[in-house]
Amino acid sequence: MQLKFISLFIALFLSVVNALEVPDNVFINNLHRQFEVNSSVVRENIAISVKSKEDGANFFYLAYKKDLIPNISTMVAFTKVDKENILTITQEKEEEDSDLQYFKVDLEEPLKIGERVIVNVEVSYVKILKPYPKYINQNDDQYVLFSSNVYYLSPYTITKQKTTIKIGDTIKSYSQEPAPVKEDDNDVYYGPYENIAPGTEKIVSIHYKFKDRLIHFEKLDRTIEVSHWGHTVNFKEDLIVHHDGSQLKNNFNRIAFQKSQFYTETPSSVKDMIFVLPPRAHDIFFVDTIGNVSTSAFHKDDTRTLLQVLPRYPLFGGWKYTWSQGYNNPLDGNVKYNPKIKKFVFQAPIVLSLKHIPIDHFKLTVVLPEGARNVDIHLPYSFDSEERKMTYSYLDTTGRPTIVLEKDNVCDDHFQYFQISYSLPFYFTVQKPLVVSLFIFSLFLISMIWTRLDLSIVKVIIVFFFYHYKNIY
Ligand SMILES: *[C@@H]1O[C@H](CO)[C@@H](O)[C@H](O)[C@H]1NC(C)=O
Ligand SMILES: *[C@@H]1O[C@H](CO)[C@@H](O)[C@H](O)[C@H]1NC(C)=O
Ligand SMILES: *[C@@H]1O[C@H](CO)[C@@H](O)[C@H](O)[C@H]1NC(C)=O
Repeated sequence: MQLKFISLFIALFLSVVNALEVPDNVFINNLHRQFEVNSSVVRENIAISVKSKEDGANFFYLAYKKDLIPNISTMVAFTKVDKENILTITQEKEEEDSDLQYFKVDLEEPLKIGERVIVNVEVSYVKILKPYPKYINQNDDQYVLFSSNVYYLSPYTITKQKTTIKIGDTIKSYSQEPAPVKEDDNDVYYGPYENIAPGTEKIVSIHYKFKDRLIHFEKLDRTIEVSHWGHTVNFKEDLIVHHDGSQLKNNFNRIAFQKSQFYTETPSSVKDMIFVLPPRAHDIFFVDTIGNVSTSAFHKDDTRTLLQVLPRYPLFGGWKYTWSQGYNNPLDGNVKYNPKIKKFVFQAPIVLSLKHIPIDHFKLTVVLPEGARNVDIHLPYSFDSEERKMTYSYLDTTGRPTIVLEKDNVCDDHFQYFQISYSLPFYFTVQKPLVVSLFIFSLFLISMIWTRLDLSIVKVIIVFFFYHYKNIY
């Protein structure tokens, strides 16, 4: 009996300690959450009305299930709809005895008691849509399942809340509980629910037709090489795409596909991928593990070049495709000299990818010209890792400063520009041609001397020596 009491006491004590981690400084008097689930990157927009219980409350906490954390790509909080006032979010230390991960949101200004502020939180998720059923026929539509807690998981009591799930296409079925639930114009509305206690959970699921591409990049390695003397910037991407949709019940009929030059597109398959390159991109290539893919196509206009990547076969659920693509851009398309800071400034998009398609592992390598120094990089968001090293290639003497950046779970929100500034002493812009011409000149010199030595005794001696050498060994 006594043991039971002690454990009860410990349990109570623990829960008090847990509760203390999140101070009871605010509560949520109203919350409206909306999910957009029509692409591989799922969006959650939450409008949270935070009301203060004390004078000077200047932060509050968000809570997410730990097992959902690897699927979160971005999270941003702001107070003005146009994202003018971005709030700082700090991921708290993991608590071992909890299945929740807390995020602390700092408010711009402390609240007075009873005062409220509306905070918008936007979260993007990757790989949370599940193809259902698992197996389909070649000409079937793609359906998926989306599941979520219908209540917003919060460390605070929420006085009133509702959740809208925007589908935008045929809904096959959806959870009818907890009431009230209604479907209207291909969207599902849950709530309003009142006085939901912290940590309350009730999973709802929606089964619906998915029109966008259910694919993701397993890896995307982008390499950028800046060459001043070649007056070009060379871009290259190595990619692996994976189709996350339902798998085919029967084998795909490849022979029929190869026979027909223009195969009909099936709703769940992916036939092509279109990448947007700069308008002056040239020397474009696209090779896969077999070799040159001649079916790829380019379309050029004044503002951009479109690279249409056509894999050798349409992609179905569970299938992968691996390839490399690249192009050159004139140097002045990416590099400008800034006389104010007396440095060159390189600018380019961080990622070249497809909209609404997540990337598991993204790697960006930038190789600057030999001799570049005072290298400063400006990134609009943080990466998981950053490394600096030297790359050596033909006729390099000191090597090329190289920056390698890596990040997991990348989505459209990361398609932004970055800048690298560096100084390049004049000597280095002419070093490479100088080394090359010196090399060629010395070849000339040697051959000239050789010709002059013709008929001379020296040549006879050299030949004699070589001859003997050969005989010795
Ligand atoms: C998804 O739906 C939203 C509107 O709810 C629309 O703006 C967006 O373009 C749709 N995305 C796709 C990929 O169809
Ligand atoms: C998160 O992503 C993984 C794949 O990386 C997937 O297996 C898992 O089901 C996803 N989690 C949720 C809650 O959907
Ligand atoms: C690859 O194809 C392009 C155009 O189709 C061609 O210009 C190029 O020479 C080909 N390269 C190889 C290695 O076959």
